[in-house]
Formats: sequence, structure tokens, C-alpha cells
Amino acid sequence: MPLIAVDGPAASGKGTIARALGRHFGVPHLDTGALYRVVALSALRSGLDLSDGAGVGAKAAALDLSLLEDAELRGAQTGEAASLVSALPEVRSALLAFQKAFAAQPGGAVLDGRDIGTVIAPEAAAKLFVTAAAETRARRRFLELTAAGRDVSEERVLADILARDARDMGRADAPLRQAADADLLDTSELDIAAAVRKAVELVSSQL
Ligand code: C5P
Repeated sequence: MPLIAVDGPAASGKGTIARALGRHFGVPHLDTGALYRVVALSALRSGLDLSDGAGVGAKAAALDLSLLEDAELRGAQTGEAASLVSALPEVRSALLAFQKAFAAQPGGAVLDGRDIGTVIAPEAAAKLFVTAAAETRARRRFLELTAAGRDVSEERVLADILARDARDMGRADAPLRQAADADLLDTSELDIAAAVRKAVELVSSQL
């Protein structure tokens, strides 16, 4: 059974694609961004300074998975905080074992995130790097947020996405980058169904 790594920037479609790949290939899916969001939410609620490596690292070590169901997990503030705490080496190392164990399941797995193909599962049988133009990603995120009743401007969403890209690609520890053996999937001009079809095709050709 295959181990599949899916990486890419915010709102590229990687989460939707990874979930669909899990269904298609019959393997469990882990959204690793959600783990960083859980850590961020724990830290915010404890009033921690988000640059406090030891304090936030302790939240990552005692991961409260019940927060995966929290209504605020997907909010912009949590995403922003997740991007900040994910730059802390203490946080990344505390989440490493959980992710590696998920990837090592004998039945295979699909994980999506920023460093799956490069750090968490460099041995993955298939790797995708999913991206899209920043304006396209901002438009998608804006539509999602307004559909969820949030009051945001598209300009603000674009600015947040660009800031998050810069931080995720610029950090010293496990920066976002395409693994040398990953196939690039640009979803700028694709709807969800077409992107999933293309992803299945690319993964199948790597297996
Ligand atoms: O994918 P999502 O937007 O939920 O991820 C939230 C944040 O978590 C990202 O901006 C990124 O900084 C961080 N992250 C990471 N490594 C991963 C997954 C997410 O650093 N494997």
C-alpha cells in the first residue's frame, strides 16, 4: 500500500486533494497543518508568547487532539498563529514522532503539509507539490471565509497568504519547498474534480 506525500502553500488545494487521494487509494489521511493549528490554539488560549519555544513546545509535546474539533481551528487567527509557532524547532521536533508513526503504518498513508516529502516522509513512494497563483489562492480562501460568515476583504486575505508563504518558505527549520522527486501540480486553472483527477494520474504514474 502506498505512502503518499502532498506538500504546498496555503489554499493551494492540497488538503482537498490529499483527502481524495486517501479515498481513492484506500489509505488513511493526516492533515498535518491541523496539528500545528492545535498547538497554536492551545498556546493562544494559555496566553503564551508565540515565540516562546519552550512553552509552546510543551503544548506540542502534550498535543490536545480534542482541539481538532474546535470551531476556531480553521479561523484566520489560528492559521496565522500556526504559521508563527511552526517556525519553532521545539514545536517541529515535538510533532515529528506522531507524523512519522502515521506515515509508517503498514497499510500506507497520505499526509499533507509543508515538509512531508522533504522531512517527514522522504521515503514516500509518491510525492506531489501542489500550488496555485497567490491571487487564485486568495480568491478561494476569501470565498470560503465569506461563505462561513466572516467579514474579510480579498486584499487582506491576499496579504495574509503572501505573508504566510514568505514565512513558511523562509524559515530555517523544514522550510516549504518542492522535494526534488515530487511532481508539480498547479491547480490555478483547475476545478476540484479536475485537480483530483490529475493528482490521481500523477500519483499512479509514480507508484
Ligand atoms: O495547512 P495549514 O494552513 O492548516 O497549516 C497551518 C500552518 O502550519 C502553515 O502556515 C505552516 O506554517 C504550518 N505547517 C508546517 N508544516 C506542516 C504543515 C503545516 O509548518 N507540515
